[in-house]
Amino acid sequence: MAAVIILLPISATAQSPRGGGGGNITLGSSLVADSSNSTWKSPSGEFAFGFRQVSPGGYLLAIWFDEMPERTIIWSANRNNLVQQGSTIQLFSDGRFELNDPTAGRRIWAASPATSGVAYAAMLDSGDFVLAANSSAVMWRSFDEPTDTLLPSQIFNQDSNLIAAFSDTNHSSGRFQLELQTDGNLVLYTRNFPMGDIISAYWSSQTPGDGFQLIFNQSGYIYLTARNGTMLNTLSSNGASASLFHQRLTLDYDGVLRHYVYPKSANSTGTRPMAWSVNEFLPSNLCLSIRQDRGGGACGFNSLCSLGTDQRPKCICPTGYSLLDPNDRLSGCKQDFVSQSCNQESNDTDHYSFSDMPRVNWPLSDYASFGPVSEDWCRQDCLNDCFCSVAIYGSNGVCWKKRSPLSNGVIDPSVGGKALVKIRKNDTTTTTAENPFERKSSNRSALIVTGSVLLGSSVFLNLLLLSSVLFFVFRFKGRKSKTAIRAHNTVPPGVVSIRSFGFDELKEATNGFNEEIGSGAWSTVYKGTLKEGENVIFVAVKKPHKIAEEADQEFKTEVSSISRTNHKNLVQLLGYCDEGQNRLLVYEYMPNGSLAEFLFENPSPPNWYRRVQIAFATARGLCYLHEECTMQIIHCDIKPQNVLLDGSHVAKISDFGLAKLLRADQTRTNTGIRGTRGYVAPEWFRNMPITAKVDVYSYGILLLELLCCRRNFLPDVEDENEVVLADWAYDCYRGGAIRSLVADDEVAVDDLKRFERFVMVAIWCVQEDPALRPHMKRVMHMLEGSVQVPAPPDPTSFVT
Ligand SMILES: *[C@@H]1O[C@H](CO)[C@@H](O)[C@H](O)[C@H]1NC(C)=O
Ligand SMILES: *[C@@H]1O[C@H](CO)[C@@H](O)[C@H](O)[C@H]1NC(C)=O
Ligand SMILES: *[C@@H]1O[C@H](CO)[C@@H](O)[C@H](O)[C@H]1NC(C)=O
Ligand SMILES: *[C@@H]1O[C@H](CO)[C@@H](O)[C@H](O)[C@H]1NC(C)=O
Repeated sequence: MAAVIILLPISATAQSPRGGGGGNITLGSSLVADSSNSTWKSPSGEFAFGFRQVSPGGYLLAIWFDEMPERTIIWSANRNNLVQQGSTIQLFSDGRFELNDPTAGRRIWAASPATSGVAYAAMLDSGDFVLAANSSAVMWRSFDEPTDTLLPSQIFNQDSNLIAAFSDTNHSSGRFQLELQTDGNLVLYTRNFPMGDIISAYWSSQTPGDGFQLIFNQSGYIYLTARNGTMLNTLSSNGASASLFHQRLTLDYDGVLRHYVYPKSANSTGTRPMAWSVNEFLPSNLCLSIRQDRGGGACGFNSLCSLGTDQRPKCICPTGYSLLDPNDRLSGCKQDFVSQSCNQESNDTDHYSFSDMPRVNWPLSDYASFGPVSEDWCRQDCLNDCFCSVAIYGSNGVCWKKRSPLSNGVIDPSVGGKALVKIRKNDTTTTTAENPFERKSSNRSALIVTGSVLLGSSVFLNLLLLSSVLFFVFRFKGRKSKTAIRAHNTVPPGVVSIRSFGFDELKEATNGFNEEIGSGAWSTVYKGTLKEGENVIFVAVKKPHKIAEEADQEFKTEVSSISRTNHKNLVQLLGYCDEGQNRLLVYEYMPNGSLAEFLFENPSPPNWYRRVQIAFATARGLCYLHEECTMQIIHCDIKPQNVLLDGSHVAKISDFGLAKLLRADQTRTNTGIRGTRGYVAPEWFRNMPITAKVDVYSYGILLLELLCCRRNFLPDVEDENEVVLADWAYDCYRGGAIRSLVADDEVAVDDLKRFERFVMVAIWCVQEDPALRPHMKRVMHMLEGSVQVPAPPDPTSFVT
């Protein structure tokens, strides 16, 4: 403590100490911490000195504003060392002033006057508690040892500091500190808890070399002066007279330095605010001011700081997290779910998804960044990375991966990007990683949807049966099946070979064809497990009801080409069995079922970004079939039932190639093809060649369903204009009412530009004239936004 004006003639102040109530405290006086609540009051009664019970059995020796209901504490002697009932504060006859806790058997605190000769003590009306000599010279004063508050007339010298309370109910030393450094700079620091050393500065007066004293004068002005008295820096200039207002400058537990005022008497209208109001405060936005490489930031680890409408920082836990200590808002947030396993075989990504938090960032804690990339890429990359707790997708297309514990979290309008917070999906709340495959088959209808085109179109049936038969006939080199099927594994194209299985092996793998996970017109699908050394992998075994006997060399060739397809957005065929009548196909298992279930059987609409991802994935898969295979493959049956979702919700097209063998000259029949506009392109009903554009049409319908989370055809819908989604979508687009398609999907609303672009692409895809429909590659580019999407014409304007 540097040069303080020690000698202050007490008699000169208006509130000269007196004996008894509100006067001089004579030598030998004491107070006891108990229910008597006796105090030493200042003459005016504004302030009281005494014990305050602040926790069960815990007493604080303090000074407080005694006239207001809050009894706001402005100073304390033992904030980090509460005393028990029966403890005493005593002014001994020799002038010692000591706090003793008899239960603890020791002295807890003592005032240390500069010199001996204390004759009395006094609680002054300024809020200062003093020990004085016979001459009225002050030997010690509480003003020189502030805790977290300054009062008018209190002077804050170099090398003094205020330390914020731990919380609004716990007065012990907390996490923030105001210091007038010996170099003259007035600085706010974060403090290391519990060691108390400073971590980093988050505000300063920027007066190194100049600052000498912080003055809080009787008119309620708070400013920093230089040694020669010139004002350097004003902290509060919104003056409030000390005669009219109680006031204080407090470094609050949340780290904000606030100048509070409280009217001393009711105003003319008789209304008196019954609480402190903030006159001025700093820093202006604490959430943005604190950024430290060590420590959690303003709100603690994993937490988010947001400036409320009342200008107070609020600490918020992200979705899936909750306060570490429910009684301490600054304690940070703990993850409420089991962390993602880093065990490659656990296929754990299946359990995780993202909560989107716009305008959220944790500016530090990143360990990887990529850019520019698409948001979908960013999501997928974080999802597949067990270290990644949060991905920040910046408006500049940069993807930052962050790991726990996250620090300096902030929600603020100035934050451009958004946070994708990885959370465990709530369908699995167990604390151990649950096996995703152990669900009852009844819950998982049609996991592998088999050639469902056959349900509607018998023309495909034979082709499909034929092609599958040929599959078995054709011998492939046996090889070990892939051990781990993970979404991000991109196996180089053309190198996957297919393994031949024995019937008994598959019978055992499926436990005697026990667990049916789907069935179609021509086959039933069973779940199976295969052991690959240490690992167990799950497979879907497709068992045709009956097998046609015919075979043809040309088909063999084509089927073999199908077997060579390999793309992350196609369901992978792993092997087959061909033993007499026992012919089976073995596929990778898709734990998240079909897109149809995902879209139409979910109680709430699936997340918009996940849907966007599925739109891209399906388009990519089709693009590959149409344009990147050695021979073009037309799927002919694109619909949500044939798009399956793997453990990471990556969409994969199933049953591709099975209908590939169509030729333009092949006869077709329209019996069994749905009469309603479904996924089937109109050229099936017309005398027109069948091209890859039929898939584009089906994709357009699927895309609309993805956008709106409803089936294309809803006969029972109230408004008849909305019965056929493709028609309604075009009406909305033409009428400039895209917004009505989004309904109340707020996440999609936030991404309305993309939503509109996707609707336009879908309308291009469902053009009745196949020539007008874009190729899948162009569809991809339009979806990505890398090419302009021209205004689509009315899809039905085509006349044959
Ligand atoms: C308090 O005590 C001092 C020293 O004994 C004395 O000068 C002063 O007058 C006293 N004040 C009151 C109000 O009794
Ligand atoms: C204070 O002064 C009075 C006389 O004015 C004297 O009796 C008393 O002993 C003095 N006390 C101290 C502590 O010096
Ligand atoms: C106040 O917080 C500190 C730090 O967590 C803790 O040690 C102390 O027990 C708390 N005091 C009370 C009264 O809860
Ligand atoms: C307090 O400081 C302000 C600003 O310098 C000044 O205008 C005012 O007169 C001062 N009040 C007192 C009581 O000194």
